[in-house]
Amino acid sequence: MPDADKPRGGGEEKNYGIGIPMETPGFFLKGSAHLNWGMKNRLSQIFNPKSGRTVMLAFDHGYIMGPTTGLERIDLVVPPLIPHIDCLMCTRGALRSCIGPEVRKPVVMRCSTGATVLKELSNETIGVTIEEALALNASAVTAQACIGAEFERETLENLSYLINEGAQYGMPVLGVTAVGKEMVRDARYLGLACRVIAELGVHFVKTYYCEPGFEEVVAGTPVPVVIAGGKKLPELDALKMAHKAIDQGAMGVDMGRNIFAADDPAAMAQAVGAVVHQLFKPEQAFELYNDLRKK
Ligand code: R5P
Repeated sequence: MPDADKPRGGGEEKNYGIGIPMETPGFFLKGSAHLNWGMKNRLSQIFNPKSGRTVMLAFDHGYIMGPTTGLERIDLVVPPLIPHIDCLMCTRGALRSCIGPEVRKPVVMRCSTGATVLKELSNETIGVTIEEALALNASAVTAQACIGAEFERETLENLSYLINEGAQYGMPVLGVTAVGKEMVRDARYLGLACRVIAELGVHFVKTYYCEPGFEEVVAGTPVPVVIAGGKKLPELDALKMAHKAIDQGAMGVDMGRNIFAADDPAAMAQAVGAVVHQLFKPEQAFELYNDLRKK
């Protein structure tokens, strides 16, 4: 068995080939060239083939947190944001009850369940089958991996189930690297978590931005990485984080609270979009945010 990895500076320097992009022969997305047509088509709905990136709106928080701040009324908050984002990430309950079926944006469906903030969050199982996700016209399915947590193995089994079942239908899987209260969100931990689930077979990964070392997290993950927003930040700070993540190789955001809990969620969705797709600098995007707020 290989030894557990040594920390940086522990006598073993790593070489991530920073500055050398991974080749993407024949298809625009990193690590996706050898997938089948259905997988590629679904991924092309989520990631804009022109920019190669995506703004996903995460509003699955209620599945563990109940009516979190800013998302008390999904039916009021989310529909006005849909024109300004590329993709919806949510539970089937929220989708069926609050989002009109005329929507033409792709859906990444949260399929894990079994835990809430009142108990051990890693103690999850799969609650939505691939067939149900297909029936709801999902473009990808998702569950989280809780690396280092009490139920680490079960969360990896959940992802394996989605990957194995999804493979039969050309259904991509987003792997979310969840971070428990006791986990440090540093590059070493996030890099390990992202790489583990990429090797398990997820088609794209959602993780947190970290510094230093985010570029290495991305380089060590052979599939696209998108970042979660995390706790609500002042709008300019959230735009700075998104900009740094994109600049260091992230292929988008899967952002919730920093969009739907912003002072003006629709303006924030557009400002984040300008950073992700048009590579606006944070200050430029903040100016756009303020201009849009006045309208
Ligand atoms: C947590 O319940 C979900 O996985 C969220 O989708 C994730 O945390 C992203 O949302 P936020 O940007 O609010 O962190």
